[in-house]
Amino acid sequence: MTIQDPEKMTGTSFDISAENRAQLKQLFPSVFTETKNDKGELDESIDFEKLKAELGTFSDLFESRRERYGMDWPGKKEALRLIQTPSAATLKPCREESVNFDTTENLFIEGDNLEVLKLLQKSYYGKVKMIYIDPPYNTGNEFIYPDDFTENLDTYLEYAGLINGDGKKFSTSNTNEGRFHTNWLNMIYPRLYLARNLLREDGVIFISIDDNEVNNLRKICDEVFGEENFIAELVWQKKTGAGAKSKGFIGLHEYVLCFAKLIIPTWDIAAPMSEKTKAMYTKKDEHFAKLGPFATWPLDTTSMDERTNLRFPIFHQGQEIWPRKQWLWSKSRVELAQQENKLTFNYNDKTASWSVRFKGYLFEENGEEKSGKPTSVMIGPYTQEGTKDFQKYFDRDVFPFPKPVALLKHLLSIQVEGVEVSGDDIVMDFFAGSGTTAEAILQLNQETDQNIKFILVQLPEPCSNDSEAFKAGYKTISDIGKERIRRVLESIDTATRKKLEIDKNKSPELFTADIEPSSEKLTMDLGFKVLKLNKSNFKQWQKLDPATPVEKIEEQLSLHIDHIDHQATPEDLLYEILLKTGFKPTEKIETRTIVGTKVFSVAEGALLLCLEDTVTKELIDQIAEIEPMQFICLDSAFHSNDQLKANAVQTFAARNMQKEKHNQIIFKTI
Ligand SMILES: C[S@@+](CC[C@H](N)C(=O)[O-])C[C@H]1O[C@@H](n2cnc3c(N)ncnc32)[C@H](O)[C@@H]1O
Repeated sequence: MTIQDPEKMTGTSFDISAENRAQLKQLFPSVFTETKNDKGELDESIDFEKLKAELGTFSDLFESRRERYGMDWPGKKEALRLIQTPSAATLKPCREESVNFDTTENLFIEGDNLEVLKLLQKSYYGKVKMIYIDPPYNTGNEFIYPDDFTENLDTYLEYAGLINGDGKKFSTSNTNEGRFHTNWLNMIYPRLYLARNLLREDGVIFISIDDNEVNNLRKICDEVFGEENFIAELVWQKKTGAGAKSKGFIGLHEYVLCFAKLIIPTWDIAAPMSEKTKAMYTKKDEHFAKLGPFATWPLDTTSMDERTNLRFPIFHQGQEIWPRKQWLWSKSRVELAQQENKLTFNYNDKTASWSVRFKGYLFEENGEEKSGKPTSVMIGPYTQEGTKDFQKYFDRDVFPFPKPVALLKHLLSIQVEGVEVSGDDIVMDFFAGSGTTAEAILQLNQETDQNIKFILVQLPEPCSNDSEAFKAGYKTISDIGKERIRRVLESIDTATRKKLEIDKNKSPELFTADIEPSSEKLTMDLGFKVLKLNKSNFKQWQKLDPATPVEKIEEQLSLHIDHIDHQATPEDLLYEILLKTGFKPTEKIETRTIVGTKVFSVAEGALLLCLEDTVTKELIDQIAEIEPMQFICLDSAFHSNDQLKANAVQTFAARNMQKEKHNQIIFKTI
């Protein structure tokens, strides 16, 4: 952590409107824009039409408005509208495809990420420490899921083969659609917008991109995250050469854009020292026990910034040594370093002159390893390493150009204002592909004894019939991602058990009965829960399209008499309710029996949920005794007994009378 200067006190009084603007900017950075004032000067101003749109009121946006700085493209208005259309879907749990379903806190969500991001807004608002995405680059070859604004959830369900048979086909963007920026912008904008909501205040997003859309992406991010939250446009050198046929400059790099949710004024960036840099620290002196090995660097500098106080002689063996231009350190700091033997002196016979170097130690005074400064150019890891990482688990090339695991590990290790992803933080990747992000996190957890959790989202994009993936039995890209994670988990599990076995054989005295290599006492989260995007299990939540014919609406209304989808399992209903009440789908869930009725207890009893056909007065009384934060049951479970329902409302209201407002029990029916 850097030591921060105290904030300077100003003599002026609290500027309420400035504070209001600052708060508004934090909530809606995209509504701030630059316009010319009456004097023709540029001013920061608020785009009120946009603000209205953010709040759900649409006027004829982008028409009849003054010229302003910002980014517009055909369809932007609709893209904004799309953000605000609530999702009528759910995420269905899929035990068979998960690993350690009941205990894991990692998620793999199969579905279109726009819909999924909407569904996660309640449960993960402000909870994600880092987002990494590697979206389609709009090269003209890859598939871009069409966010045609006339499409609805049914389009996805058809695409995923969940209704109407084999799946709806969409063309790749390079056929008749052309490689239009508009399509790509309409795709990425709402997703980034919703993603920002999920970031914690100290959260960051990294986005891989190449020359095709880097300019547009940067501008869109300026709008969505706020220009002041820009951290870096990192250049990633991904290869060392290209084939003889390549024309023009040989393209060796792409980019990783980095934005913060909220930069604080003293923000700084650091990262652990690379292995290459660490290897420079080889020498030892009397400070070794405390400060570790050291390396040396020249103390004199030819910096252009002339400072006469840095120009003075250093005395060594009775001789005066002068810098070529000036020293790096002040006189008092040099004298202290000399006293502590933290300088080295070398005599050059040829020039008959001395040079002075200072010692830099590997550890800080507090014993912690020093951090390094990451550079804006990342040379490697190269793309071929990504392929090798993947081939450790697959003997065929079933996924083209996965990102190298080391690239992700590097990004995960970057500290913004002294905080890197660690402990129990949540990391998200909603263009997951083959699941590289999950592998990087699992490796990091294994190496550093942490429990960083991941949420991956991947479309069940079909693998074409002639692809290696299809031949190897993978129907969709999400199938590849899930299988990779399973194999990584298995390999970590095997390696951990093997290591424990070896350690036990070496020093059996360290192993007590509760640390048995063969037992389940391994603490790392070696699992992931698969959830799949699907239509709501509750008919009244399967929102109707405004264009639906009246007969269809009537038909739907009659269905509401029995409004739960018959194919839904209690677990399906449970997960939908969790998401829609703002609980994480990874919360601890237990089943309790209360007065003979099955009740789900979520998050150590914070939510009690009864999905049984019937509720009784005894059950309601008992639940009120338990005092959960929320109790939810089926409306139909009252069997039209209005008296019983009114009593239930009364019971909770009476209890709430004795409680503070924030502690009151919420009672709802579905
Ligand atoms: C460039 S790849 C990501 C590769 C990944 N970083 C890796 O290392 O394996 C982009 C992925 O995003 C997926 N994708 C595209 N549109 C999507 C959408 N709307 N929702 C979810 N995933 C999508 C594609 O299927 C593709 O697998």
